[in-house]
Amino acid sequence: MSSRRDFLKQMSSVAIAAGASSSLLTWALPLPQGKGIEVPGEDGMIIRSFRFVDLETPVEYFNTWLTPVPHFFVRNHMHEPSELNADDWRLTVSGEVEKPLTLSLPDLSKLDAHSVVNTLECAGNGRGLQRPQVPGIQWGKGAVSTARFSGPRLRDVLQRAGVKPSGKHVMFRGLDEVPGKVPPFIRSIPIEKALDSDTLVATNMNGAALTKHHGLPARALVPGWVGAASCKWLTEIKVLDHEFVGNFMSPAYRFPNQPGEPGDAVKPEDTHPVTGLFVKSVISGPADGANVKAGTVAVHGTAWAGEADIVKVDVSTDGGDTWNPARLGHEQARYAWRLWSYEWKAKGGDYAILSRAADSRGRIQPAAPVWNPSGYLYNAIDQVKIHVS
Ligand code: MTE
Repeated sequence: MSSRRDFLKQMSSVAIAAGASSSLLTWALPLPQGKGIEVPGEDGMIIRSFRFVDLETPVEYFNTWLTPVPHFFVRNHMHEPSELNADDWRLTVSGEVEKPLTLSLPDLSKLDAHSVVNTLECAGNGRGLQRPQVPGIQWGKGAVSTARFSGPRLRDVLQRAGVKPSGKHVMFRGLDEVPGKVPPFIRSIPIEKALDSDTLVATNMNGAALTKHHGLPARALVPGWVGAASCKWLTEIKVLDHEFVGNFMSPAYRFPNQPGEPGDAVKPEDTHPVTGLFVKSVISGPADGANVKAGTVAVHGTAWAGEADIVKVDVSTDGGDTWNPARLGHEQARYAWRLWSYEWKAKGGDYAILSRAADSRGRIQPAAPVWNPSGYLYNAIDQVKIHVS
């Protein structure tokens, strides 16, 4: 019997063969949204795509420093592996190494475990807010979440294999089920980031084994970088003497070297791979369109800056004319977002509430994002409109 999934698989391969990128596909196909569709264990999430599971975290959930796993956004470029048995799973390490390895989960667990609290953000987060619109999943504000990831350091795995001096990049391959002729999800990171003591082969998330949506039994965790660097269902690590060449390194996940105007054509040679996240804040309450009572109103949200630290979040309650510092939450870690709040004495009226973050590298959240054809790394000052009665 031909299922909807088979039909969509066929559609995917036809369109990929025609040269469309997978993100463009998701945008172009009429997808079931909202009512009647449930993803078990993922209550309350915004379903951006069901064909390949893409779930957005509603901003109201951004009220805990660590995001509970069922509320952690999910971004899949293709089908999750249907048969994954942790006992049979193996991770190979090959390429520019002295001693290629094949590791099982018990082998990984013999290496020292390390934990990193990381804010993982999809490069396309906020794409739906880009104007003019660009193709790709129309994420709102919630393709970002924070968890404590644990597992051996990638560095320790690579050291067991012995990286040759010619090893300059480290490639990851996942076990995704690739529909038809879709290019597999393979990307690479430079050797310096791979050898960073916080880059992991993560097997755990918030103290429990990774769930299927998040890469069971092991994923790369490349902290502070766009989520695409953190390959799920990791099965192959290959050390290369060059950056990996493939769809998910180019044309996908690239950013113009120079800012341009919307609609400007960008030549591939004038782009670079997206890596570290930009400085950004989001308001998690009051909700956009809320009607609140006059008096003390708690404006709150979260802010992050990839490999840099958040040093300040300012809030404006008058559409950006004046700004007041928010109080930063006490929970903090390198690569993790900071919760923030601001107590506002509100009088009746209509208001635009804005939030603007600044980081330890001197970056300030801009009024407008850097326009780019794929809508990556959207980080404009956040805004909600509310009524105070
Ligand atoms: N790894 C594999 N194998 N396949 C994928 O589609 N998606 C990437 C990354 N790793 C992906 C992957 C992208 S684009 C993001 S943003 C993160 O996983 C999302 O991780 P999450 O689903 O655990 O939130």
